[in-house]
Amino acid sequence: MHLLSSIKVGSLELPNRVLMAPLTRCRAEAGDVPGDLIATHYAQRATAGLLIAEATMVMAGNAAFPGAPGVHSDAQVAGWKKVTDAVHAAGGRIFLQIWHGGRACHSAMNNGQQPVAPSAIAIDSTVYTPDGMVPYEMPRVLADAEIPQIVAGFRKAAENAKRAGFDGVEIHGANGYLLDQFMRDGSNKRSGPYGGSIENRARLMLEVTEAVVGVFGAGRVGVRISPVNSYNNMIDSDPIALTKYVSSRLSAMGIAYLHVMRADFFGKQHGDVLSVARANFKGTLIANMGYTPDEAEKAIASGAVDAVAFGTAFLANPDLPARIKAKAPLNAPDQSTFYAPGAKGYTDYPTLAESAAGPR
Ligand SMILES: Cc1cc2nc3c(=O)[nH]c(=O)nc-3n(C[C@H](O)[C@H](O)[C@H](O)COP(=O)(O)O)c2cc1C
Repeated sequence: MHLLSSIKVGSLELPNRVLMAPLTRCRAEAGDVPGDLIATHYAQRATAGLLIAEATMVMAGNAAFPGAPGVHSDAQVAGWKKVTDAVHAAGGRIFLQIWHGGRACHSAMNNGQQPVAPSAIAIDSTVYTPDGMVPYEMPRVLADAEIPQIVAGFRKAAENAKRAGFDGVEIHGANGYLLDQFMRDGSNKRSGPYGGSIENRARLMLEVTEAVVGVFGAGRVGVRISPVNSYNNMIDSDPIALTKYVSSRLSAMGIAYLHVMRADFFGKQHGDVLSVARANFKGTLIANMGYTPDEAEKAIASGAVDAVAFGTAFLANPDLPARIKAKAPLNAPDQSTFYAPGAKGYTDYPTLAESAAGPR
């Protein structure tokens, strides 16, 4: 099977093309520190060609979900070191998704600090906080003079990820968080060097990528984008042109991979961004969203993409590559435990052998 064949991604050799998509699971301990439970969760999934660990805060004061981990304190780095050691001991490879939530953050989780964004446009929805569901807040507009601090925050996070033993990092440029808020014109109405044209809107993401490449080398850096996903109230007037520009610029930088979410969670926005990325990005193209193993196999066989990241399927099937190989049925994900604390629905999904042995 193409899905189970090896592939060189940047400077890394992956044994298969069944990758684990980044999944926020809100299991971090006090201080946003990853603990033993998180280490067990990822080590259980070490047969993935590549594990892409969940969205992780690059700097303090930008929490968007209670229980999301950070990578800006020494305690967090020490926690992640346990995770990478466990994954490596199990024979796996793991990248960290580095993330700034921008306007998706809330002051209730950040000592009263107002969230920041490219423009003063709030997400028209509610957010879960320790005080319950509340409306998203109006963000404070980041001044151009503050942008270098954001870039420096991502650089520092990459240095910390390296110290923590990660094999590389994925820059979170998707799903309506800060870098995506700058890229798309529904959330970026600014003028000056970071607003207006596509070149200006993509500037922050590209500056961040350059800084992170300076830490890890291009062969250990990936970028995730979701040009048509309307999640977090996002919209863009020309996602195809945006994808074309971003793909070709990232291609010129020689990064290991571009990770493209091909569709919209809510089916409102459309556009064949995958083909555009394929035509303009020369490195590894990872596709995601709604793939079954069969469709993924066909997409790789046809040359449309190089690898596929599985989200909910990997969440519920720690041994996903083995199940694909055996053409075995997949466990169904339990949505009620996606963001709930504890081991239930996190580290207790059975492998194929455990399923065969019957319920625990
Ligand atoms: C519980 C959950 C948490 C997620 N967390 C993240 C995340 O931290 N970063 C990210 O880029 N996408 C995140 N996503 C999106 C997934 O990476 C993926 O795009 C989505 O599940 C669609 O892929 P699938 O159809 O294979 O599940 C999350 C999705 C789910 C269901």
